[in-house]
Amino acid sequence: MKINSILINSFRNYESVQLKFNSRLNFFIGENGEGKTNLLEAIQMFSTLKSFRDNTDDEILNWDKDTYYLKAEIQNADDVDEFEIGFTKLGTKKKKIKLNEKEINRKLDFIGNFITITLSPIDLKIIDGGPAERRKFIDSFLSIYNREYLINLLEYNKILKHRNALLKSQAKSEVELVTWDNLLVEKGIFLISERIGVIASLNEIYRENLKILSGEKDIFEIIYNPNVNSEESFRDKLQKRKHLDLKLGYTTVGPHRDNLFIGKDSKDITEFGSQGQKRSSVIAMKTAQFKHIKKIRNQTPVLLIDDVIRELDIKRRNYFLELLMESGQSFFTTTDLDGLDDFLKNFRNQISIFEINKGKVKENHYEFV
Ligand SMILES: Nc1ncnc2c1ncn2[C@@H]1O[C@H](COP(=O)(O)OP(=O)(O)OP(=O)(O)O)[C@@H](O)[C@H]1O
Ligand SMILES: [Mg+2]
Repeated sequence: MKINSILINSFRNYESVQLKFNSRLNFFIGENGEGKTNLLEAIQMFSTLKSFRDNTDDEILNWDKDTYYLKAEIQNADDVDEFEIGFTKLGTKKKKIKLNEKEINRKLDFIGNFITITLSPIDLKIIDGGPAERRKFIDSFLSIYNREYLINLLEYNKILKHRNALLKSQAKSEVELVTWDNLLVEKGIFLISERIGVIASLNEIYRENLKILSGEKDIFEIIYNPNVNSEESFRDKLQKRKHLDLKLGYTTVGPHRDNLFIGKDSKDITEFGSQGQKRSSVIAMKTAQFKHIKKIRNQTPVLLIDDVIRELDIKRRNYFLELLMESGQSFFTTTDLDGLDDFLKNFRNQISIFEINKGKVKENHYEFV
């Protein structure tokens, strides 16, 4: 899959830009704060409909404007589709989405058409951010290509909210609690079984990737530690914790309490990992996602690589080179291309360079030395 072109209006520091992209490598080059990551963010909106920097629509809307609008042409094999995303801070503050000029009412029907894998410095929070960040990492990943997972996740969260509200309320009904419990188990078990599958697959690729990245030195694992692992244990634990849950006013059992272990010999990477090991771990994990999707969907996700390329040492750069050889379309941000000639010469005629200056974009040719 690839994004052929984009139109950006009133998004972040962009007033109005229209760009045609290379189907292989695209570089956004500019000084700090000029708008490079903003462009990746605009592209990524067509994948998940929200900012990968976790900013709200109000925050990504240009400060001087009321409405942002994005349009892109997305290609999957020979199918070309036009996607539009619009948001206004006036009135209902709702996002409007269109696919081939037809309005889409449920985000669910939009997600999955364009799959991107981002690699950015903020991904370190997968390592350092605690269990909630790690769950989010797995949930967002499954949600971008597994529609049934996303449906079940949204329902699970809704049921959990209802159950918690009941636990907190004065008029606690036993019958109602049993109803929520049954639904919670039904949806929860589905989430757990999907997580088991995807984490096992990611772990296998992650281990391989990390071995290469560390020159065989680091052999870490990603292991799923579910809070409950079967329907029976889920029901059992819910029953046993009923009084505690009623006392606390929230649900202490279920996949919303799952953990994801990353590390070695039951020591989590947060306890011993160096900066370099953590960074390699993120790269290995993100590229595992890329390869997993390639394998199960037979589609090549678009790579969005923010600020990563310059800081790689030779070993990691070679790893990246191999990855790019088997990837499709990729986008990079960097302050300059100094020292990257050896890397780039592998992609002659497959590179577009965009120079970014205060929200203005100029396309330039890259001269090989
Ligand atoms: N909602 C907004 N409206 C207008 N400008 C914004 C908005 N949000 C961010 N900006 C501006 O966008 C710029 C930051 O853009 P971006 O994060 O893309 O920079 P960058 O080129 O990636 O820089 P770096 O190399 O430091 O990562 C800042 O100048 C900031 O003031
Ligand atoms: Mg940036």
